[in-house]
Amino acid sequence: MRVDNLVLVGFMGTGKSTVGKRLAERLEWKFRDSDAVLENDAKTSISELFRMKGEDYFRALETKTIARIMTGRHQVVATGGGAVLAEANRTSMMDNGLVIALQATAQTIIERVKKDTNRPLLQGNLEERVHTLIEQRKTAYDFAHIKIDTTSMSEDEIVESILLQAG
Ligand code: S3P
Repeated sequence: MRVDNLVLVGFMGTGKSTVGKRLAERLEWKFRDSDAVLENDAKTSISELFRMKGEDYFRALETKTIARIMTGRHQVVATGGGAVLAEANRTSMMDNGLVIALQATAQTIIERVKKDTNRPLLQGNLEERVHTLIEQRKTAYDFAHIKIDTTSMSEDEIVESILLQAG
């Protein structure tokens, strides 16, 4: 692998964390999940942060977290679905690694996220929230170096596809 880091971006429920872990195992690289690192630093959960401090506060912490993670090498980094909205994050991801966008249909995403009811941006009518956010973010992942439509792929196939394309 010639690149320093592999960075997974994509909408909630596209499999960044599960695929990222497997990818890291295959490469014998570290796995970093920006949401988990942030929660560990803040000593609280993302849903609690949203509730107590609001989304802007969370986004500021997210940017600091990603900047710090991206100083490392030989890591597979899974990022929160909204991390790509900040230009600073897009730049630090692209400058320090190969960025891979995982894509899935709205229906697949809904099926995957409905098991986890904690996501602050998906409270209320789940289908409506997912469709609205997908629409708002329809070009947000376009900057990625590689895009993979995961809809009809197994986790193993996604990992293989990334390894093949990342060289
Ligand atoms: C968010 C996605 C979440 C988490 C936060 C906000 C988003 O991460 O960072 O709830 O804005 O899409 P996952 O994509 O890992 O669910």
